[in-house]
Amino acid sequence: PMAARDAPPDGALVTSAPVGTRRRFFAWVTKSAMGVIGVGLAVPLIGYAVAPALKRRESSWNEIGPIDQLPAGEPEQLEFVNSVKDGWRTASVKKVVWAIKQPAGTVVVFSPICPHLGCGFRWDSDDKKFKCPCHGSVYDVTGKVLDGPAPRPLDVLPSKVEQGRLWVTYKQYKSGLDRPVEL
Ligand code: FES
Repeated sequence: PMAARDAPPDGALVTSAPVGTRRRFFAWVTKSAMGVIGVGLAVPLIGYAVAPALKRRESSWNEIGPIDQLPAGEPEQLEFVNSVKDGWRTASVKKVVWAIKQPAGTVVVFSPICPHLGCGFRWDSDDKKFKCPCHGSVYDVTGKVLDGPAPRPLDVLPSKVEQGRLWVTYKQYKSGLDRPVEL
């Protein structure tokens, strides 16, 4: 009886079919499980990425520093830590802005993001122009477009000077539009 059970008439061909089927089934189950895990991971990630766009974050004033060291008429790149309240959390991210002290003592602050497609631009102190390396947009010291594909002037950020110190509210604007629209 043992021999009859272990050796079916068609040998390996008959026994291999169910094993292969089972293997494929398990492969399918594993893939499906991975898919479910993948979606499970992706959904919160998508939510995390989209939520800030849907829900306007509350931006606040950031103290940048004293303005007496700023040279008049010459843009300075200033770094600070931006604190943004997002629901219950407060996120702190290092940011950079361009500040230009005006002859009258006020300060104009530009977002560091090129309004064309969002690259970082620099001040060319020899040429006295802001230049974006990505597609060649050029701006004067007031932010006006002089050359290149930029659709609007540099974005001015809300700023104020209190007791000789500069404060800035960091905002981001959509790129590619002919007017500033906040993200
Ligand atoms: Fe600056 Fe295109 S992103 S010119």
